[in-house]
Amino acid sequence: MSAAILDGKAIAADIQQTIKQHAAAMLSTRGRAPGLAVVLVGQNPASQVYVRNKRRACAEVGFHSQLHELPEHTSQAELMDLIDRLNADPAIDGILVQLPLPEQLDETAVTERILPTKDVDGFHPYNVGRLVLRMPLLRSCTPKGVMTMLARTGRPLEGLDAVIIGQSNIVGRPMALELLAARCTVTICHSRTRDLAEKVRGADILVAAVGRPGFVPGDWIKDGAIVIDVGINRTADGKLVGDVDFATCAERASWITPVPGGVGPMTIASLLENTLQAAELHAE
Ligand code: GUN
Repeated sequence: MSAAILDGKAIAADIQQTIKQHAAAMLSTRGRAPGLAVVLVGQNPASQVYVRNKRRACAEVGFHSQLHELPEHTSQAELMDLIDRLNADPAIDGILVQLPLPEQLDETAVTERILPTKDVDGFHPYNVGRLVLRMPLLRSCTPKGVMTMLARTGRPLEGLDAVIIGQSNIVGRPMALELLAARCTVTICHSRTRDLAEKVRGADILVAAVGRPGFVPGDWIKDGAIVIDVGINRTADGKLVGDVDFATCAERASWITPVPGGVGPMTIASLLENTLQAAELHAE
């Protein structure tokens, strides 16, 4: 088998078109577009790129967006104070604090300070709990984007064996909850998993979120599997590659996501969807 490409860039562009129409409609009926506040603390170069891409996407769909750049040495009290002001600001529907934060800052406390209805990352324990209970409100962006891509394959997910490599709060865990809600049988693998290759070989759906370039070789892939690569790794020669060895995995999979142009653009599309959803919640 040779895999079809799940083109995240094209699917995200489609979603953005729809969101743009909704934003324009909201602007004309309510006099304001959805608003996103992005908070960046310090100078992490990768975070700067992610934040720039998120703000560019907001501009493309006609959202109002604000960037709050704070210095590396910002105190917990200063950051909490900014979040309180954004929580109270009626022009702001979504608040995104780019992670990781400098080490003097408590990420959990920051995440919990954001109003759940403005938590467009879906990281607040309230939103995670809603997903656990199968009544999601704002859903974590990367797993939500992956579910949108899986829907585009047209393949019913019910009963499929899904294997996730990685147990992070941002990807692995919410991804497992999303796939469970879609009635897959879900296995989460991590650094202590015994015989990872054997687990992956049973996967109808593989989601790789390890952060190691080319970690999954083609001979781990079940014939006809759907392979979703969440990894974005830069090699020594400056190339962006995923967590799966694309060429050999594509020989066996039925569908595969490229890097770049796969999951990355879908994460941003989900952020826009969440911001629109939050704006609708705030209008109720
Ligand atoms: N850092 C890496 N991924 C993310 C994300 O999805 N949201 C935020 N806020 N920070 C991140």
